[in-house]
Amino acid sequence: MAIHDLLDRLRRDYAALNPQVERIDALLAEAGEQVVHDHIALRTWGDPRCDIEVLVRPFVRAGYRAAGAYRFAEKRLVARHFAHDDPDLPLVFVSELVLDQFSPGLQDMVQSLLAQVSEAELAAPDLCARGRPWQVAHADVEALRRESEYAAWLAAFGWRANHLTVAVHALARLGDLAALDEFLKAHGLRLNGAGGEIKGSPAQGLEQSSTVADVVDVEFSDGTFAVPACYYEFARRWPAPTAGSSAASSRARPTRSSRAPTGSSSRDRRTAARRRRRRCGERLARLEAHAYPRAVGKESRARRERARGRQQRAAPTVSPAAPSVRDTGPEQLLVKYGVEPISDLPGETKNSTSRSSPTCSPATTDTRSRSGRSGRPRPGTSTTTGSPHLGRARCASVIRRCSSRASRAATTVVIPRSA
Ligand code: NI
Repeated sequence: MAIHDLLDRLRRDYAALNPQVERIDALLAEAGEQVVHDHIALRTWGDPRCDIEVLVRPFVRAGYRAAGAYRFAEKRLVARHFAHDDPDLPLVFVSELVLDQFSPGLQDMVQSLLAQVSEAELAAPDLCARGRPWQVAHADVEALRRESEYAAWLAAFGWRANHLTVAVHALARLGDLAALDEFLKAHGLRLNGAGGEIKGSPAQGLEQSSTVADVVDVEFSDGTFAVPACYYEFARRWPAPTAGSSAASSRARPTRSSRAPTGSSSRDRRTAARRRRRRCGERLARLEAHAYPRAVGKESRARRERARGRQQRAAPTVSPAAPSVRDTGPEQLLVKYGVEPISDLPGETKNSTSRSSPTCSPATTDTRSRSGRSGRPRPGTSTTTGSPHLGRARCASVIRRCSSRASRAATTVVIPRSA
């Protein structure tokens, strides 16, 4: 399946499930805007049959690369984000619930759901867009909700987009998030005001707001019930602040009032939007090539290649032969995913009420050891020599890559409540 087809299928499914999405897109189109999506957020269970690694396979095959890793300790989630060199493709955030941090009851429930999914289905390249393949009772979903809003949403809706996020910095006239929020409220849309409508700040590199999730009727094994579905999110990215330079930040910010499309045709608007994204991306890339990888053009890629060469010549920070493991957290994920260490995101602010799904941003536990399919911790498991999934040689190779990538990633993506 071509990546554009998969993304389009996810978007269409998301819009069909959440009536507000088409409405907002139509309102923005009427206002002369071309909607570009900054990222798409997917969710899954932290089970080896369907974890992040499994879910992102079609994206990785299409050229997406791992670009950031996160943990959200309070929500007991981990997340990764993936980026493509094609700036027209959205970032992909995928999170997974760290099952072994939850009660035996929740773990048993998840296993009973996964037991209903055939191996063929789990191996399908479009697993992330297959919806809910299991039967579940509403009462069980509500029992999950008492422990985790995330688990309840995933049990009720299955594998599909949890949310899409409009790239506010790519809008021509409503590029200011506060102005966009006012525009939406003026048209009767409800925004999630918990913790303030706008989360994050220019200093954090990202401002986001979101609607209150639509409540939709869903069929469960014990009847049809109304449950909160998905919210629509709006993100404005800012260049990372440089030392003592709010003025510099202001100069560098991706304003777009002077870059409104001059043509009236959709082709002109698309061309103008592409130019804006390129200009915005070139500036951002200088400051946050890691944080905004979509915007990194060929020149920046060449620079990254040169940097990679320097890193490879430098002594690795982690010896492949004797990996340094201080605890069982990030290193486990390094081994598992072959990427830079996970970062805690203290800015995670979005609350999870019954009407607003948790954020696309996830976080986690320090214990990632698993025993086979149950996903539960194996008592006394050693974590010093790799994961249960990898042989020693593969493990060493991954750690080598990790150390190189981790040191290349000079900055951590600041995403206060997204993933
Ligand atoms: Ni998000």
